[in-house]
Amino acid sequence: MAATLIDGRAVARDVKERIAVKTAEMIAWGITPHLAVVLVGENPASQVYVRNKENACIKAGIRSTVIRLDEDCTQQTLEDTVKKLNDDESVHGILVQLPLPKHLDEASVLRLIDPDKDVDGFHAMNSGRLMNGQPAFVPCTPLGVMELLKAYDIDPNGKRAVVIGRSNIVGKPMAMLLLAANATVTICHSRTQNLAEITRDADILVAAVGRANFVKADMVKPGAAVIDVGINRVDGKLVGDVDFDAVSEVAGHITPVPGGVGQMTIAMLLCNTLDAAAKRGR
Ligand code: GUN
Repeated sequence: MAATLIDGRAVARDVKERIAVKTAEMIAWGITPHLAVVLVGENPASQVYVRNKENACIKAGIRSTVIRLDEDCTQQTLEDTVKKLNDDESVHGILVQLPLPKHLDEASVLRLIDPDKDVDGFHAMNSGRLMNGQPAFVPCTPLGVMELLKAYDIDPNGKRAVVIGRSNIVGKPMAMLLLAANATVTICHSRTQNLAEITRDADILVAAVGRANFVKADMVKPGAAVIDVGINRVDGKLVGDVDFDAVSEVAGHITPVPGGVGQMTIAMLLCNTLDAAAKRGR
């Protein structure tokens, strides 16, 4: 393997340690950072994610409240819950775990969250602020990617960056963050023609496609930093969007799955919660 492995576990551990120190300082000033998570229904994956978020908060000293609503709860109940959290002075961050059950309107709920408590960064106000280069809550996964690049001294300034995937949660904010860091950015997606030709130009290649082993070695520029955001289950095993073994022989840096970007998401959620508490200052 030629590429340097980007160790998401180690970077996430460092970030969480820094957060625990800052949280203790804030508590000493009389502010206890507080994240409220709303979980609707019994989706097993969501339950695991929410438990992990709760445990990470507790470990960092951040107060965590999980509000569990029934699978068949009404839109009104969910919206009332969010409004109550908006009005609750003790709550700094609000996260509505997705996906919601099919009968609920996700967009309407996300629109209701106070943008200053939107630690997921999913509210249009925050995506707009990010787009305009204003201070914003940024979705945790792309924020985590930027933290990994920083940890390994990979400076996007002047580089060519290619993002495969155009979701509101990863692809688009990822592109905006790389642009803000002065990269020349291309977003590719399922309709992109001559994909490999474009990705081979990338000094930084971010794969957020949702297809196992999609990025092959011949799509990667020698020495590139390859960041794999994918989490796919194949025969019960977690694999990324990048053909790891083959791409490792070509890339300069690479993130593994698991143990790469995935580790960073919760760490950045804690960061956003701390920021929300610091900004409010009470
Ligand atoms: N479901 C899976 N990942 C996430 C996330 O980062 N935030 C929310 N709200 N729901 C999710």
